[in-house]
Amino acid sequence: MKPTYLNCLSLLGVGGAHPGGLKLTKDILLKEDIDKTKKALDIGCGTGQTSAFIANQYECDVTALDSNYVMLEKSRERFSELSLSIDIVHGYVENLPFENLLFDLILSESVLAFTNTSKSISEVKRVLKPCGVLLAIEMVCERELSNEARTEIQDFYEVSHLLSENDWITIFRANGFGQVNVEKVKLKNELNDLDNTAEFSLSENIPDDCFYILKKHEYFTDLYRDSLGFRIFRCNI
Ligand SMILES: C[S@@+](CC[C@H](N)C(=O)[O-])C[C@H]1O[C@@H](n2cnc3c(N)ncnc32)[C@H](O)[C@@H]1O
Repeated sequence: MKPTYLNCLSLLGVGGAHPGGLKLTKDILLKEDIDKTKKALDIGCGTGQTSAFIANQYECDVTALDSNYVMLEKSRERFSELSLSIDIVHGYVENLPFENLLFDLILSESVLAFTNTSKSISEVKRVLKPCGVLLAIEMVCERELSNEARTEIQDFYEVSHLLSENDWITIFRANGFGQVNVEKVKLKNELNDLDNTAEFSLSENIPDDCFYILKKHEYFTDLYRDSLGFRIFRCNI
């Protein structure tokens, strides 16, 4: 397995691999109307921390999807330990293996930025019920970056673009989300936040490169703390 940032997250089994971690997820979900009758989809579910929380807390129908098999296996272990009946699906957000208008709630926690955003958002819109909600926590570019910095960040995270808040809003709107509410994620100290929220489920053979990549992520987080931020996008059709 190539030691990319996302592959390393999977081998290290980082749970809550988004800014603010599970604490932020819980705060966001508190504002939503979720009950047993709802169907939720966690795209890019990683090790399944959020999916497990939703199934446990709201006893609703949850589907956890990811393109990475190591992540899905760690989700499966988590759900089995917690005796949670959650559908685990291998797939790509750009081509969701679901029928139209299926879900009431779709979560994307640090996922869309790693995908072909237009294709993914169009797919999310397709499988969301008309009265459904997409909640996305995504990285935004807060200011103009030098070409060198932009390339360095894009190469490291293997993302094809770095979007500003307005870029995201434009893409959500262009793909059918008429209403987009935005909230800035306020993190007092990103590194501390990661320390507080990170949970690890280590694979057996982890190449040394992964620890180096994790360190480099922390270094970038610190170096670009004023240039890269995060937003919660709450999108309705
Ligand atoms: C930064 S991690 C976040 C994981 C999880 N949402 C969390 O907060 O812990 C990004 C996740 O998105 C998944 N992912 C990336 N691109 C994807 C795609 N095109 N389709 C499905 N999953 C994808 C990765 O495998 C990884 O599990």
